[in-house]
Amino acid sequence: MITQLKYTSSVAAKDDLIVIGNKTTNWKNFNLSDKEASYIKKKLTSSNSIIEINQYGKFFFAAWSHRGANKHESLESFRRLGNKIVGFLNKRNIRVITISSIVSSGDITLALAEGIALGNYQFLKYKTNSNYQANSLRTVRISNPSLDNKKVKNLAVIVEATCIARDLVNEHPTFLTASQLGREVKKLGKLAGFKTDVFNKSKIESLKMGGLLAVNRGSQEPPTFSFMEWKPRNAKNKKPIVLVGKGITYDTGGMSLKPTPNSMDHMKSDMAGSAAVICTMYAIAKTKMPVHVVGLVPSTDNRPSENAYVPGDVITMYDGTTVEVLNTDAEGRLVLADALSYAKKMKPELVIDLATLTGSAAKALGPLGIVFMGTADEKTKQSIKKSGNQVYERLAEFPLWKEYGEQLQSDIADLKNIGSTSAGAITAGKFLEHFTDYPWLHLDIAGVAFIDNADSYRGKNGTGVGVRLLFDYLQNIASNGKRS
Ligand code: BES
Ligand code: MN
Ligand code: ZN
Repeated sequence: MITQLKYTSSVAAKDDLIVIGNKTTNWKNFNLSDKEASYIKKKLTSSNSIIEINQYGKFFFAAWSHRGANKHESLESFRRLGNKIVGFLNKRNIRVITISSIVSSGDITLALAEGIALGNYQFLKYKTNSNYQANSLRTVRISNPSLDNKKVKNLAVIVEATCIARDLVNEHPTFLTASQLGREVKKLGKLAGFKTDVFNKSKIESLKMGGLLAVNRGSQEPPTFSFMEWKPRNAKNKKPIVLVGKGITYDTGGMSLKPTPNSMDHMKSDMAGSAAVICTMYAIAKTKMPVHVVGLVPSTDNRPSENAYVPGDVITMYDGTTVEVLNTDAEGRLVLADALSYAKKMKPELVIDLATLTGSAAKALGPLGIVFMGTADEKTKQSIKKSGNQVYERLAEFPLWKEYGEQLQSDIADLKNIGSTSAGAITAGKFLEHFTDYPWLHLDIAGVAFIDNADSYRGKNGTGVGVRLLFDYLQNIASNGKRS
């Protein structure tokens, strides 16, 4: 279910209303009685940031939030406030809510709406009585003098794309096979207007994508490799930006089987990187963003079977590199490596990969941040970090020191697919680096893609992480014409 966001220039007397105010707001300007206005003034404190007034026939919500130490902290506090309001709205069975903010900036108003819309997300496909379970809220109308149709439409698309990414991650693996993921790519490409080409197993074989094929050997399902492209005539960049997403639809670990209990429970989310890439393509095409972007998604599940690849196997990758597989659970880097080599053909200006790649990254930052590393220049890194702060999908950089790479030396092949027990996120990054020859950023989203405990508007389960981040980053390029 996706909450609609609409711009409006008029607020009717009968509308259920949220007004963002502050300590100096004269609440009487909003058709409230003296009593109601003074009640709000008294009650609206930092610990009590939403006041509900039942006006018998409609509801009025006065909302207030502390500004943070800087702009991005302020935006985040309003998104969180938005999520808090969702509870009130659904309790009161409200279908359409109007945010009227004369006193607040456009950005703050959009952040509140974003928090409401993302916080209202539900995945009800497998609830047999979904009518009963569904939230009442359907539409958020936004009225603010510094906003317009276009700005609200932009946010509506970002919210929609994030929710589609969440749906993909929350889908169960028997439904969401590599082939199904390919069908989702085609469907979204058609809806938004970007080009798609889903390679099937025989095409992947003829390309000799040895990493993807090795991981796929234990599966009953064929692999897919999805190519996506958005190339508008007015693109600001000459060479494409390539996005690569890990599309492991389920990771059992393969023959190096993950221990049950628990470590496998959420491994349907091992395609979250691909969901981020696919849905970012959707969002930039739908908003006709003037930037040339290619998306690549190698996809399969990773399972043990009599045909499965085993520790000790030596495989030949798409670029000819030989890899000694010493742990079949380090499968993400094998499928990504083939996609990263494939990206060389596009002479990219920049390649960004997103992957639920290592438990090590999840351990390092927990559910709060993305571990990133790469060979792109300092300006590019600063720019993606800035976007991370802006949308509150924050990034912390790890080093790619050459000594870490020494751990990947194999006795019999060019590389082995695991390092030692420490610095696992970095050795995975060093493995990927071998297959790049262009400016590159690697985002390990293992800790943030799927969360067990609800976290405000991110909810729980699939978070859709990456879509808002990449959209913001690409939009900056679209408006500056530069990577930084
Ligand atoms: N998909 C996992 C990483 C993962 C772990 C994602 C936990 C989300 C939560 C990845 O394929 C994996 O199994 N990585 C191994 C690599 C190791 C065998 C070198 C890991 O991190 O333990
Ligand atoms: Mn694995
Ligand atoms: Zn994996």
